[in-house]
Amino acid sequence: MTWDEIDWAALDRLREGFLSGSAANGPYWRSRSDLASYDFTYGERIGWKWDAVLRELRLRRWMPPPGLLVDWGCGSGIAGRRALSTWGVDAFTGLRVWDHSPHACEFATQAAREAHPELKAAVYADDEPIGLLVLSHVLNELSPAAKVALGSVIERAAAVIWIEPGTSVVSRDLIGWRESLRLTHRIIAPCTHAAQCGLLAAGRERDWCHHFAPAPPGVYADSHWVRFGQRAGIDLRSLPYAHLVLAKNRTPLTSPELPTDAARIIGRPEHFKPYARVLSCDASGVNELTIPRRTCGALYKQLDRTKAPLIYQWQRSGLSVEGATALGEEFLHGRDDRAERRSPD
Ligand SMILES: C[S@@+](CC[C@H](N)C(=O)[O-])C[C@H]1O[C@@H](n2cnc3c(N)ncnc32)[C@H](O)[C@@H]1O
Repeated sequence: MTWDEIDWAALDRLREGFLSGSAANGPYWRSRSDLASYDFTYGERIGWKWDAVLRELRLRRWMPPPGLLVDWGCGSGIAGRRALSTWGVDAFTGLRVWDHSPHACEFATQAAREAHPELKAAVYADDEPIGLLVLSHVLNELSPAAKVALGSVIERAAAVIWIEPGTSVVSRDLIGWRESLRLTHRIIAPCTHAAQCGLLAAGRERDWCHHFAPAPPGVYADSHWVRFGQRAGIDLRSLPYAHLVLAKNRTPLTSPELPTDAARIIGRPEHFKPYARVLSCDASGVNELTIPRRTCGALYKQLDRTKAPLIYQWQRSGLSVEGATALGEEFLHGRDDRAERRSPD
């Protein structure tokens, strides 16, 4: 597929379905060409969100459990392919895809085989046990019955990586899934803790758990992407997403655990002249913290520029930050190798 081959009319129709909510009325992929055009544009953009989450998991040295990789609600299969390029074909016993659209199942299987000729790829057959389940941008198309069916699929998976749009409604829905799964599963991301979600506390109704992925460099200056962004009504600089990464309690730990005082910043830090303000989530709840520019100048700047996951151990006095260590600086490493590493960019 090239930009010249894009079926813009099909993308317009798909967009209309996503925005109006009619995408939830049943299968909407009409042809392979619909999926190819989606995969090259919307799908690729979703892939950038996967890149951000998978980058964090790699940084944390998390490995998926062995077994089948299953992409449910696969569409063009971008989620499964991103997982395969992160961990390699050998990390899984094969790929299974599922979508209520047969066009999608066919496209996703074929695209994965083209990218990885040695891969055993097929359509998911009910009841197969799952190593890693990947779910992407599917939640707001599911009926209550489909959500129940998805619950049984999750039940069969040793681990789940789930990425959704970063809207308040979908993110709150994902929090509901987190709450119902947190006793049977270890929560790997985005939460640094297993306590009840702090955004369910009284007074936090207007907040939602979302983060921003960086777009690849050069996208803003690429006339094709700029045209796509304009036609789709998408700001290419902003890639908000909500996510949930879980592993069943009985799945062996595959990565070092985060320190118990690790915190994640929700949304984007806000910068004012004398200080930055962040919404910080940790085991004690969600708190608005202030980072004074005068005493924490380097951190103030880092928070404005970094593309790394916003996970920190704070040194704080009340709600004011006095210092911080970022994930990747010292977390998970001994102090000895600290000098050799740059802070994440
Ligand atoms: C917005 S697309 C996302 C596709 C892909 N996961 C991605 O991230 O690019 C949503 C996908 O969910 C599928 N879907 C919606 N309801 C479904 C259901 N009840 N069972 C299986 N797939 C479903 C749609 O056919 C579509 O392929």
